[in-house]
Amino acid sequence: MPNQVNEAIESHYARQDVGSLILAALEGAGKDLHRLTLEDLAPMDAFHLRGRAATRELAEIVSLDASRRVLDVGCGIGGTSRYLAREYGCRVTGIDLTEEYCRAAAMLSARVGLEALTEFRQGDAAHLPFEDESFDIVWTEHAAMNIPDKSRLYHEIHRVLRPGGSLAIHDVLAGPTSPVLYPTPWARTSDTSFLIGPGTLRNLLESADFTISVWVDVTEAARSWFAAQLEKIRKNGLPSLGVHVLMGEGFRAMAENQGRNLQEGRIALAQVVARK
Ligand SMILES: C[S@@+](CC[C@H](N)C(=O)[O-])C[C@H]1O[C@@H](n2cnc3c(N)ncnc32)[C@H](O)[C@@H]1O
Repeated sequence: MPNQVNEAIESHYARQDVGSLILAALEGAGKDLHRLTLEDLAPMDAFHLRGRAATRELAEIVSLDASRRVLDVGCGIGGTSRYLAREYGCRVTGIDLTEEYCRAAAMLSARVGLEALTEFRQGDAAHLPFEDESFDIVWTEHAAMNIPDKSRLYHEIHRVLRPGGSLAIHDVLAGPTSPVLYPTPWARTSDTSFLIGPGTLRNLLESADFTISVWVDVTEAARSWFAAQLEKIRKNGLPSLGVHVLMGEGFRAMAENQGRNLQEGRIALAQVVARK
């Protein structure tokens, strides 16, 4: 059953040769492919609400530096991994279920000269292919909503963290209103969506032996940010660069539902830091 779910999730995200699609979109937007910057990639490789600003905020809370080994769980095409590596000089390993994304992540890191600090592996977050206590920070943004067995997920993360290490989360949670409207950017139907509410997340983290040190409800910030994005799309159509390059046809319907899910309290957003 989990394998069927994982296959459905991978086919939701994967587009054949997504790396070439990204490069074509960048070229079409007038970017010089031989001088790409992280800022050029950000509209596509920050596949979460509020883009890079949300990553920056969370990074400031977890105190990163070049000595830290970081694991980015559900790294997508590696935008956050590259951002953390560039800003803090830390080594970042990204793991993602979607093979095509891992390939694109490695290609993009090489294009921006970050191949020495970032590496990407295909794998399932619920079965992390790493030794016990091998990371100082585990980071995860907008991936847990696709993972059914969250108890296993947080126990696995706890196992690979060294004592005193931190888990940094930026996630979509179930809101006070239901149901969630599908398709969303993370799932076409409820069959591959596994949202939990804030109380359940707290309990799961504590049951996995984490101590929650920071909890910020960022729902309102996400709501107004996304409303502005949606307004631009409605007025001008999809921009040349955006996560729709990864998601292809159907992104507009996902975006409309995302807007309603936020406006109507069907989803909530939290940034959380938990210590081992
Ligand atoms: C919405 S994207 C977010 C990507 C990235 N964290 C970001 O913020 O740009 C969700 C990612 O989670 C990955 N994912 C979903 N389930 C996973 C699992 N069980 N293990 C690893 N990655 C998973 C998907 O393949 C996808 O790349």
